Amino acid sequence: MSILDIRVLGDPILRQATTPVRAMTEELHRLVADMFDTMHHARGIGLAAPQVGRTERLAIVEVDDERFVMINPEIIERSGRAKGEEGCLSIPDIYADVERPETVTVRALDEHMTPYEIEASELLARCIQHEIDHLDGKLFLDYLSVLKRTAALAKWKLEQGKYPGYIRRVALETPEDRGEHEHPEEEL
Ligand code: NI
Repeated sequence: MSILDIRVLGDPILRQATTPVRAMTEELHRLVADMFDTMHHARGIGLAAPQVGRTERLAIVEVDDERFVMINPEIIERSGRAKGEEGCLSIPDIYADVERPETVTVRALDEHMTPYEIEASELLARCIQHEIDHLDGKLFLDYLSVLKRTAALAKWKLEQGKYPGYIRRVALETPEDRGEHEHPEEEL
């Protein structure tokens, strides 16, 4: 397994829609394993293929020791509304409250292309929605008011110089580089 570079805000791949996966391959199995490795190293709870420079409709989430590989995921039911703080491994050091449906049912394929459905709430529901957004070229900043988005982007302008070519080399980061955010478990 290896730790992959993470694309950060400004890389056009984060704004592209992804392509459904037609068949699982050895190469995709390796990608999934590398994505888990990368996510753990970056101390995140979710990671989507575009964040590591790929165009497959594939994402992973891991919340409270429950891990899911989501291939070609779709949200088929949503209910309630809930607000919670989010961060993103592709927008380091920027956090904001985002309002989303509180509970979602998602239909996806697992690593063996076997279909499954899960009903998720709380942090898992938030994480799943955040990752599926990535697969549609959408970022959590898109949900903020103009005022809050402008403030977040101004803060990002001061950070983005750390990531030449929009690339975050997670493998080279030390725990100190990754910072001590008060809610590090909410990086998606
Ligand atoms: Ni994210």
